[in-house]
Amino acid sequence: MKGIDDAKKIIVAIDGYSSSGKSTMARELAKRVGYVYVDSGAMYRAVTLYAIRHDMVTPEKKVKTEELIAALPDIHISFQAAGADGIQHTLLNGEDVEKFIRDMEVSNMVSPVAVIPEVRQRLTALQQEFGIHKGIIMDGRDIGTTVFPDAELKVFVCASPEERARRRYKELLEKGEDVEYDEVYKNVVERDRIDTTREVSPLRKASDAIELDNGDMTPSEQMDWLLEKFQEQVG
Ligand code: DC
Repeated sequence: MKGIDDAKKIIVAIDGYSSSGKSTMARELAKRVGYVYVDSGAMYRAVTLYAIRHDMVTPEKKVKTEELIAALPDIHISFQAAGADGIQHTLLNGEDVEKFIRDMEVSNMVSPVAVIPEVRQRLTALQQEFGIHKGIIMDGRDIGTTVFPDAELKVFVCASPEERARRRYKELLEKGEDVEYDEVYKNVVERDRIDTTREVSPLRKASDAIELDNGDMTPSEQMDWLLEKFQEQVG
């Protein structure tokens, strides 16, 4: 009988709008099927945190692009396997920065950092290395279009901006952040705008991706849907 280790290993690309719940779906699927999970957004967030910490953002909230490009060789991003909290932590030059990369300061600056072609090039190469042996689930904006255009399973997740802002707002409140819903909503809409209109690898559905509107779905319904699509691919 075919064991799980003999099963065909595939690449799963899960793209979609910010706060669409794609990371939760991707992480959960990886856990269920024993694949590696990579949160590509966390990588863009880590570069953004580096820029903020190294004074590469002006008081007018402009990224000092040349300085950041020059610093790219000094920015090393890796992941630490999930610990007691069940969450994989992002490391920036060896430091666990998981709790810093999700705050509003980073969220507000990450899209302008992610439009820089040199940043994208570097992170794309790193993401492709992670997928060399397949058996990986990566979520982001351009995974099915640019990072892994040959991924066997591509999912494009969407939900209304209001629903996504509501989810992110709840998440931030639970973390004890002092935020207003309006601020979170504006951030979601602005990130959608920048992510979909940037020149390099804009957020768009790959022609062979399956679209999932999860606005009215519970997490367990989403998981059932995704597991079914996964099983169809691995056979
Ligand atoms: O998934 P997220 O919200 O944590 O992503 C943070 C930002 O990173 C998002 O606003 C756009 C950018 N991003 C990207 O440009 N390409 C990716 N593959 C992943 C994220």
